[in-house]
Amino acid sequence: MSMTTVVSPDVIHQIGNTPLVELNSFATGRVKFFAKLEWFNPFGSIKDRAACWMIKEAERKGLLKKGKSIIIEPTSGNTGIALTGISQALGYRVEMVIPDKVSDETKKILKRLGATVHETSDDLCPRVGAGTDQSISLAKAISKSRPDIYYMPNQYENDANFLAHYESTGPEIWKQTNGDMTHFLAGCGTGGTITGTATYLKEKNKNIKIIAIQAQKNHLLQGMRNFEESSMPELFLRREKIVDEWITATNEESFALVKELAVKEGLLVGPSSGSVMASMLKTSKKMERGNLVGIFADDGTKFKSLYDQQGIFTDTEYYNILKTAKNLSKPIYAFV
Ligand SMILES: Cc1ncc(COP(=O)(O)O)c(C=O)c1O
Repeated sequence: MSMTTVVSPDVIHQIGNTPLVELNSFATGRVKFFAKLEWFNPFGSIKDRAACWMIKEAERKGLLKKGKSIIIEPTSGNTGIALTGISQALGYRVEMVIPDKVSDETKKILKRLGATVHETSDDLCPRVGAGTDQSISLAKAISKSRPDIYYMPNQYENDANFLAHYESTGPEIWKQTNGDMTHFLAGCGTGGTITGTATYLKEKNKNIKIIAIQAQKNHLLQGMRNFEESSMPELFLRREKIVDEWITATNEESFALVKELAVKEGLLVGPSSGSVMASMLKTSKKMERGNLVGIFADDGTKFKSLYDQQGIFTDTEYYNILKTAKNLSKPIYAFV
């Protein structure tokens, strides 16, 4: 029997205000490391912010009708989960177009939250650029077929995605650090997180260094992309200059840090957080002193199958970490 998780409309008030924790075991005398734990959002990732801002903006513009509108979006997972959960709470139907390589756990969560899922044989992250991407083309084709019913937020172009981070992630980090930070690092998909957060932080202190992380080519870091394989989304191009430095993270170093964070900090993180930690450590080696803040976009609970396949944890290790992990959230879709 399939069950749909029922979500209360109040859930959107629980988005944001996620914890910022210090990663003490990595600290040196000169450098401190802080992680913003975005899986504390109700649907388990940083993407709750962008999804909420995009839906609210569409409501303000009168583009959505409760009980009639269908929200459709190409996504590698987290945006889909967030859009689905929020839409269900607010009374909209949802269709998600996802690459078939997205983890089985992600697909199950989407279905459990009530989305109709279309799978395409794309790379892990939808590619941007004419003729290169099936999930974006399919979502566009479906939405164009019935513009009276379908609404596609299009996180790759929608400025509400940028604003979500300019108005929430950036101010939260500034407050949580009391402005005592030198570097900000985030993994990049649409570029909404890095450009929105960085724009706010640079307005507060233009000396904060902004470091953007892209995945290696042919990567396994769900939610991120490589900008040689896939052109840069329009949303990112508008504010790309805010980035001071780029780091390309490999699958191998990202998974190594997933393991190290579990062992040393008791944190069960997703692959993109591993890439952020690896990049924070690389950056720390080149600096005198300072405080680095990184975005940990989601936790490891959607990635057991990937971690199995990559040999990151044995079954026993994984379940032990799950039992003892600090700071694990209980997202609304959690299987109870
Ligand atoms: C796990 C994860 N990390 C990083 C990102 C990148 O976020 P953005 O699209 O804001 O660049 C995403 C986006 O989906 C994600 O799901």
